[in-house]
Amino acid sequence: MKIGFIGAGNMASAIVEGIVQKGFSQPGDIYLYDISAEKVQAFAEKVGAHALNDPQEVIKTVDTLILAVKPNVIKGVLLEAKDAILQNDPLIVSIAAGTSTEAIYEVFETDKPIRIVRVMPNMNAMVGEGAAAVCGNTSATKEDVATIIDLFNAVGKAWPLEEKYFSIFTAIAGSSPAYTFLFIDSIARAAVKNGLPKDIALEMATQAVLGSADTLAHSKENPWTLIDRVSSPGGTTVAGIVELENNAFISTVIKGIDATIRKDEELGKK
Ligand SMILES: NC(=O)c1ccc[n+]([C@@H]2O[C@H](COP(=O)([O-])OP(=O)(O)OC[C@H]3O[C@@H](n4cnc5c(N)ncnc54)[C@H](OP(=O)(O)O)[C@@H]3O)[C@@H](O)[C@H]2O)c1
Repeated sequence: MKIGFIGAGNMASAIVEGIVQKGFSQPGDIYLYDISAEKVQAFAEKVGAHALNDPQEVIKTVDTLILAVKPNVIKGVLLEAKDAILQNDPLIVSIAAGTSTEAIYEVFETDKPIRIVRVMPNMNAMVGEGAAAVCGNTSATKEDVATIIDLFNAVGKAWPLEEKYFSIFTAIAGSSPAYTFLFIDSIARAAVKNGLPKDIALEMATQAVLGSADTLAHSKENPWTLIDRVSSPGGTTVAGIVELENNAFISTVIKGIDATIRKDEELGKK
């Protein structure tokens, strides 16, 4: 399958490196276009992919076209690419946050079916540990969605998800890396307050959170069972858990997620 990218920034580079490394694609089957020709040329050379100077050429060549530009430019990119897409009929994949499959289809001003798949990835794709939700519009086939799930499994884990749940996914996977960084920094800051230097405290807190996520991911237990396992009677951990809950830890996290979902829904309506 020939895959094209319009926009070859952070996310596209992570995806390309992942799909080549995991053997999902041969580098020679990847075609890249970016507004910054020099940048894309250097990246294409590094991975052995093709850098083209014209987005229309990419569209003519590929079976799957991944739109990896920022949401504020995606409409302009689609307007420019519209005729070539209608003629060549590639599978359109958008990773633009907050941009629905319907909003993409509307740009074409046509009754012709266009296969559109929407993906919400997250920044951890850059270390091969991303989380991505994938949905297709009514014209996209089950195979189209399955192929794109396979593709995003090369840079982490991907799940099929109805588009109506994308705002929730955006909060729990798109934005949650930021909440996790905040949590890790808070742990390290507490260590600094108690006398440990910040750099080593941050390294230790990061490793502890990384290991905890890994333990949970490999465990068949639910989080509360694991919490009970590290909470000895009358011990240190339970004292901390009770104090966190005295300060409404759970409902504070839920309020943060709720605010993210509301904001995403609000932006999606604009
Ligand atoms: N990064 C994340 O963690 C993340 C998470 C979820 C979703 N996403 C989505 O992924 C998409 C890409 O994000 P990113 O972080 O990879 O952004 P990025 O690093 O800024 O990459 C976008 C690339 O597109 C280029 N570009 C701008 N206008 C263009 C045009 N008209 N034609 C072709 N290329 C153009 C940009 O060049 P210039 O830099 O010169 O403008 C840049 O190289 C966004 O829609 C974002 O919502 C990203």
